[in-house]
Amino acid sequence: MDIEAAIKNRRSVRNYLSKKVAISELERIVDMARYAPTSSNSQAWKFQIVTDDAYLKDIVTFSAGIWKKPPAILAISMDRDIALKRTGKQALEETIYYDAGIAAYAASLEAQALGLGSCIIASFNKKAVAALLAIEPPLEPMLMLTLGYFMGEVKMPAKRGLNEVLDMRLAKE
Ligand SMILES: Cc1cc2nc3c(=O)[nH]c(=O)nc-3n(C[C@H](O)[C@H](O)[C@H](O)COP(=O)(O)O)c2cc1C
Repeated sequence: MDIEAAIKNRRSVRNYLSKKVAISELERIVDMARYAPTSSNSQAWKFQIVTDDAYLKDIVTFSAGIWKKPPAILAISMDRDIALKRTGKQALEETIYYDAGIAAYAASLEAQALGLGSCIIASFNKKAVAALLAIEPPLEPMLMLTLGYFMGEVKMPAKRGLNEVLDMRLAKE
């Protein structure tokens, strides 16, 4: 898949078909996400795939940011001990959040390449989801990614124009 098309066409999907996603595809999404860059190459992440209906229902209950139960959820947690050891103190306030976000985006692009929709979710009760998925310190839940098939097209929300967001200080020719 053309990288620019994947970047441009990826949308946050919030309405999925009930069709199941093959475990091999979910594994492949995590397999690609683990190639994402991390601060000091710390790779302090832990990925959890959830397709069990009872777990999905409970997660949705504790997630204001998920409106409708998806067929699958990928939870991304970061290990604060590994991150601290590899990166130092900056990891705990800063880089673990970047690392989790980059991994979530890599996973969303691989989902796109596989013909799946996804949506990054930050709005969820971290304590409740940690308890549900047995995520214990030093692991900290960071983001989730809903995953599944969807019908038709999801409209692109307004994006700010290049001229609005780009400032250039160019070398004189
Ligand atoms: C860090 C982060 C957290 C997000 N959290 C949520 C969320 O909790 N619920 C949700 O529906 N969408 C969430 N989104 C998706 C954004 O709302 C979405 O990316 C934005 O509206 C732009 O739409 P697009 O992804 O289709 O370009 C999140 C996105 C990011 C990057």
